[in-house]
Amino acid sequence: MLDPTRPAMGAKDFSAADDWPGYFGAVLGKPPRDTLLAALAAFEQEGVAAGFAVDLAAGEGRDTLALLERGWRVLATDAEPRGFELLWPRVPAAAQDALTTTLVRFEDTVLPPCDLVNASFALPFCAPEHLPALWMRMVDAIRPGGRFAGQFFGDRDSWAVRADRTHHSEKEVLTMLDGLDIEMLRIEEHDDPPDTRDPKHWHLFHVVARKR
Ligand SMILES: C[S@@+](CC[C@H](N)C(=O)[O-])C[C@H]1O[C@@H](n2cnc3c(N)ncnc32)[C@H](O)[C@@H]1O
Repeated sequence: MLDPTRPAMGAKDFSAADDWPGYFGAVLGKPPRDTLLAALAAFEQEGVAAGFAVDLAAGEGRDTLALLERGWRVLATDAEPRGFELLWPRVPAAAQDALTTTLVRFEDTVLPPCDLVNASFALPFCAPEHLPALWMRMVDAIRPGGRFAGQFFGDRDSWAVRADRTHHSEKEVLTMLDGLDIEMLRIEEHDDPPDTRDPKHWHLFHVVARKR
């Protein structure tokens, strides 16, 4: 039953419940992630205006839309069809040929050679047994001089106890990034305010890294 004294569910609560359609509704229309913007700024500084990106677990497409707006070609992947139903109507007609969407789970994802693998708030939702092989495919797909942008969840995050999620210590993140030049590694760690619905402890790594 609906409890009027409880705060309404937000994006965090939907992702805790693996309710991805609910999550997409909560974040619809939000701006692109800072990690993507930082990666794009780094490309621009090198004189690279656009390229080909894989947006892994793209969701309802906040980052995909930003890439398309800047002239990138994008392969957006996700396992949940509702995200692409919300994305396609918002893709400008002139950019539609630049976008491919593929419904696929992390463990089955094949990444073509690309300039950028963008994985915003994506990898923590890959089951731990599939993450190492997925990460290897991701790094292999990035051309030399290309970039990874995205988040890892840390081992002090409240969700680290969940067996279906992948969390990393700082040392593990650094080991995974070996072979890439780290351009951003921002560690975020804080508690939700107590009046939040189901407050949690957040521990995240925001990463942009360039392949040598
Ligand atoms: C927190 S959302 C992130 C979405 C988007 N990248 C963003 O930044 O808002 C996590 C995404 O992972 C997708 N996802 C969850 N489990 C998955 C799986 N096993 N394989 C592929 N995608 C999955 C969800 O559908 C959802 O779009």
